[in-house]
Amino acid sequence: MPVHSLTHPLAAHILTHLRDQTTKPATFRTLAYQLSLLLAIESTRDIETDKKRIQTPLEPMEARVLARQPLVVVPILRAGLGMVQPFTDIFPDVSVGYVGLERDHETARPRNYYCKLPPLAGRHVFVVDPMLATGGSAVQALTVVKQHGATDVRLVCIVSAPEGVAEVEKYHPGTAIHTAALDRELNARKYILPGLGDFGDRLYGT
Ligand code: PRP
Ligand code: URA
Repeated sequence: MPVHSLTHPLAAHILTHLRDQTTKPATFRTLAYQLSLLLAIESTRDIETDKKRIQTPLEPMEARVLARQPLVVVPILRAGLGMVQPFTDIFPDVSVGYVGLERDHETARPRNYYCKLPPLAGRHVFVVDPMLATGGSAVQALTVVKQHGATDVRLVCIVSAPEGVAEVEKYHPGTAIHTAALDRELNARKYILPGLGDFGDRLYGT
């Protein structure tokens, strides 16, 4: 399975402060934005461009612009919302869909409570969720977007566990995963170690 880890020193720096338990929600949101921006750039490295003839102040030239092939970003509610704005800030024609999943605190199994998606066929679809732990939420979200017509889907995460990567590979083989970090393991309560705790709670101060 193609797992792409961010190797930029700035990504490591931002992630360290996200992991730090003393980081407050306002700073946490800013850091989540910054890291998601780096991930948005990295995960779209291969999208298409078209030729465009322009005139610089000095001479004409043939340059490149993004092809008119709208991207779709699909956050898994609620924590995935913290990764959407970088995509909408830098890609002019991006659409946003939503899949609402919540892990049961006892069983760690995801419960689907919301789904609102734009047309997905023929588009690059980016499912964004900061934490890939058991992989249950990601697998379910990938299944939902494929049921709605998506054929080109990437998963973009901030911290991933090996167990989650294996689960995605089992149910959606070949799916590209872009992550800022591949951590060691899950603990008995299915939290990522070393991880950063509950991302949604830290993002929203709950
Ligand atoms: C977190 C996280 C993922 C999920 C990952 O969400 O944002 O969606 O857990 O765990 P998994 O890989 O074991 O499924 P959570 O269910 O805590 O909901 P929230 O985003 O509303 O906080
Ligand atoms: N969800 C989180 O927010 N953190 C984890 O470590 C695992 C799932």
